[in-house]
Amino acid sequence: MANTILVGAQWGDEGKGKIIDVLTAKADMVVRTQGGNNAGHTVFIGRRKYVLHLIPSGILRVRKRCVIGNGVVVDPVSLVGEIAELKRLGVRVKNLFVSESAHLVLPYHRELDEQREILKGTNKIGTTKRGIGPAYGDKAARTGLRMIDLINADRFEALLRCKIQENNEILKALGAKPLSFARVHAAYRVAGDQLKPFVTNTVVLLHEAMRRGQSILFEGAQGTFLDIDHGTYPFVTSSNTTAGGACTGSGVAPHRMDCVVGVMKAYTTRVGEGPLPTESAEIADMLHAMGREFGATTGRPRRCGWFDAVASRHAAIINGIDDLSVTNLDGLDNVPTIKVCISYRAGLARLDYIPADIELLAKCEPVYAEFPGWMTSTTRCKKWSQLPAKARTYLRALAELTAARLTLVSVGPARAQTIFL
Ligand code: GDP
Ligand code: IMO
Ligand code: MG
Repeated sequence: MANTILVGAQWGDEGKGKIIDVLTAKADMVVRTQGGNNAGHTVFIGRRKYVLHLIPSGILRVRKRCVIGNGVVVDPVSLVGEIAELKRLGVRVKNLFVSESAHLVLPYHRELDEQREILKGTNKIGTTKRGIGPAYGDKAARTGLRMIDLINADRFEALLRCKIQENNEILKALGAKPLSFARVHAAYRVAGDQLKPFVTNTVVLLHEAMRRGQSILFEGAQGTFLDIDHGTYPFVTSSNTTAGGACTGSGVAPHRMDCVVGVMKAYTTRVGEGPLPTESAEIADMLHAMGREFGATTGRPRRCGWFDAVASRHAAIINGIDDLSVTNLDGLDNVPTIKVCISYRAGLARLDYIPADIELLAKCEPVYAEFPGWMTSTTRCKKWSQLPAKARTYLRALAELTAARLTLVSVGPARAQTIFL
């Protein structure tokens, strides 16, 4: 397999974990390049469910090497917990490598995340409260701590002492409880010792692998419209979730990338606040009643809406999507008439891109095209030709409107419920 970047092409939770797991079969290495444990990537193998937060989903296949790249923010205690949980489920976590340059998420980041959300009141972002924004904030302000600091005991103690002192002043001013240096230090030292064997120069590791002709799959987290630059700012996460983030977050140059896969649901979901033009109570109620669309990280019910082709076209441009994977087709199996947003109406204007002005986006009304539903289960379909004709028409329309090549359709969470075109 060529070097492939996989991105979420909507607002996250597109089913990236499942598609990564499927595509990992042909890759040698899988790399996370941005985000942190705000991500929740679900993979089913047989009846067993795995939810990956920081560790690449490729870890579930033996002999695949998995990398947490420099662009990821790592909560070391959470990573140790994730490794332990995978071991408990019988997964061997041997081939894991963590970048020495990856920044740390520390307890004051989580506290600040929480406090800032409280301060924002009704304007809150609806973050996962994992401390992601404050950790990337420290990185940009050049005051962050990195994995290389964590595994150097003396350096870590000195740096952490200063950071706790500084952040306790802020927390006290916000009316929150200050942190105990001794407690945080003890917990993070233990985590540091446990993670030390995994920490390395992942840039060198990746380039050596490429020199040997190995192929790399870059596992995107979150989705295009949660991107700090290209998303629905400020209702976004704090990293570049789009294809470019895979380069900066790994140290692999753009011209070494061969293909960009965009993953989209056959409809739209979003967790957290911010505009979602095609949001529909009708489709949300139906999916929630089926027990679907509850967040993998926070358990929150996801907001749901019709497929938004304005957004998908925009995502195709920003990411340079070559191949399209459409997941959760089966979620629409019982919908008599399926809507697809083909443009936005804002006053007298028609828009065919996502406006940067969040207030304008909030006012956009979707213009819909309607497709007849297939009203039959697709979950047992194994080939394109087995899909109902109306489902094929719908999928062709999604690909055409997005201006990308449809190469994969997912009709259920299992590996076998995958149709290659
Ligand atoms: P990710 O964050 O993009 O990896 O997606 P999540 O794991 O947060 O959410 C996607 C959910 O959809 C998970 O529960 C998956 O098991 C599930 N899923 C993925 N593809 C399909 C599909 O084609 N059909 C169904 N029914 N579920 C799917
Ligand atoms: P995966 O990788 C869906 C959302 C949060 C919130 C916003 C900011 O599973 O697709 P943050 O905690 O990052 O500061 O929250 O981003 N968010 C996600 N939504 N899937 C995710 O990851 C997300 N990671 C963050 O809900 O709206
Ligand atoms: Mg998820």
